[in-house]
Order: sequence, then C-alpha cells, then structure tokens
Amino acid sequence: MTAESIYEDLKAKLADVVPDAELRLKAETAFEVQRLKTERNAVILAHNYMEPALYLSVPDHAGDSLELSRRAADTEADVIVFCGVRFMAETAKILSPEKTVLVPHKDAGCSLAASITAEDVRQLRERFPGVPIVTYINTYADVKAESDICCTSANAAAIVASMKTDTVICIPDEYLSRNVARETGKHIIFPTRDLPAGGGDGELEYQMIGWPGRCEVHEKFTVEDISQVRAQFPDALILSHPECSPEVVEASDFSGSTSAMIRHVKETEAPRYLLLTECAMGDNIAAENPDKEMLRLCSVRCPHMNLITLEATRDALLFNQYVIEIPEEIRVRAVRSVERMLAAV
Ligand code: 13P
Ligand code: SF4
Repeated sequence: MTAESIYEDLKAKLADVVPDAELRLKAETAFEVQRLKTERNAVILAHNYMEPALYLSVPDHAGDSLELSRRAADTEADVIVFCGVRFMAETAKILSPEKTVLVPHKDAGCSLAASITAEDVRQLRERFPGVPIVTYINTYADVKAESDICCTSANAAAIVASMKTDTVICIPDEYLSRNVARETGKHIIFPTRDLPAGGGDGELEYQMIGWPGRCEVHEKFTVEDISQVRAQFPDALILSHPECSPEVVEASDFSGSTSAMIRHVKETEAPRYLLLTECAMGDNIAAENPDKEMLRLCSVRCPHMNLITLEATRDALLFNQYVIEIPEEIRVRAVRSVERMLAAV
C-alpha cells in the first residue's frame, strides 16, 4: 500500500464529498498511520461516526459500540487505538487490560457518560434494593463497576428482557430507556423527577426505572424535522437512532444502532434516506452506496466524535497518547457488567 493507492481509493469513494487537495493530504496522513500501526503492532478500531477519510482508510474494524467491544476483547495486537470517544476506549481497556489503549483526543467525552456518577448509581441501588441495574455502554468505568450488566443500542431491549425480574433499572439515557419501555410494553418512571425526594413510592405503578441523561445530538431531532422532510421528499426512508425521543422513533421508518442503520440502507431499495444521527455517518454510507442519496441534518454534530481525526490518530500512535488507565479495583468490577452483556446476547 502507498499514499498514492490510498489516494486513488479515497478518490473513488469520496470525490463528490471531499475536495481533491484535502484528499491528497488525508491519503498521506493515512499512509503514515498505516506505517505506524505496523511498527507498533497496533489495531485500529473505529466507530461508524468517524470522518469519511478516516473511516474508509485506516480501521482494521469499524462498527457500533457492541461490535467494537467484541473486537477489543479478542485482539492479538499490543496497542488498541480507539477512534471513538473515551467511554468506548475505556470499554476496550476494561476488556483487554494488558494492552495499551489509546484514544486520540483527551477531550472526547459524551453527554450521556457525563450525566451520571458512580455515587448516583449507588444511591439508586440503595433506594431500589434487589432491582437489577442495566447500564448503557455510554458510561465511564466507575459507573459500569456499580452496575449488574451493560447494554448497547443494539441489544438494550433484549438485555432488559433477559433480566426476568418485575422491575429493572435502566440508565442513564432517558430516551433509550423510554424506547425500550415502549418496545417491551413496560411503564417507566424517573425517580429524580417522579418520586418524592425522601422516598415513598405512593401508588405509582412501574416496571422500569430510568435516569434523565440525554445525548446532546439525538435529543435535538424533532417530529417536525421528519414531517418537513417527508413533505419535501415523500420517497425518503427515515432512520433514527434509539437515543432519539420516542416520538421521533415512532415517526421514523426504522430505528436501530449505527450498524443496524448502515445494514438497513444496504438491504432496502429506497432512492433516498434521512439518517437521524451524527452526520458523518451519512457520508460514510453514501460512499459505500453510490446509487442511494443520503439526506442529512448536519447542523447537529457530535463535538466529541468530531475531535477524532486522521491527524489525531497519527499523533496518538506517534506520541503514545492518550493512554487509558483504569484503577484495577474498578476494572475488575466493571468487566463483570461488560462480559455479562457479551455472554447474554
Ligand atoms: P452505537 O452503539 O449505535 O454505535 O451508538 C453509539 C453512540 O454513541 C451513538 O450516539
Ligand atoms: Fe455521546 Fe451523543 Fe456523541 Fe454518541 S453522539 S458519543 S451519545 S454525545
């Protein structure tokens, strides 16, 4: 592989999206990343939201959170470069503690992961003793360590159903949990809003207990957005991520994890698609499905995912940054929640 061959490949897929001069620079950087990857015996795991020039050039594996955590668990490489946000790189470290795990930007956070602390989870457990805690993978290691099992957008309903208890705590994404409740016919409450602070659940009937965290990207999509697109493009198929509100999911034609959305575009025959998720994924899907048109609402971007560029990935390998460290006492408890999920579905 040469910088020229990478350029030719990127040009074939991205000529309509990325200016030529930029493609040449990106191809040179991708070549440097490939060289450093071999030198360091590294594997590059990339989330589906990565910028197209990165997504289409350097990853050994691209995918959603569930697929990438499986890859992280069974790699032979010495170094894992996680082209995604910190909680994803942490999950890789939880599963592969003997590897060096790098995230290419130190500030690549997530509004969901920031919405809940380990102390919040301990308080929920105290308030609802014996109720299993299902925690979305978009959380930090100390929160996973207080949980019983993890889930992702690809398996949340199946994991909740597998609990086989009358009540389940499902945190911290309000909308993902509401969508699971809707799908499984359960009634959900949010104790920080719906229950009196001093305890006492009154007459309230519920089978799910949630937390009011939100994804700062997906919470912005509205039913109005969908109506406007349907009015202008009646033949468009509308796909939403389950971090969108239940109203948006209900008004969509399909909802699923980022990889499920990619598969759905591949497997259906609509001329146009609207993806209600991070906008870069539209470019990545368009590059792989040149006969299909992607409509995008790009005013809403994930500021965290967008910090991870090809240049940052090269620097991660060059300067060994930013190394993920998790105290062993937290990791050993967190790994149980992640491994239970991987074994369950
Ligand atoms: P997926 O697991 O569906 O890839 O979602 C991760 C995420 O952060 C979506 O915003
Ligand atoms: Fe977190 Fe939302 Fe960004 Fe995904 S898109 S990483 S959930 S802030």
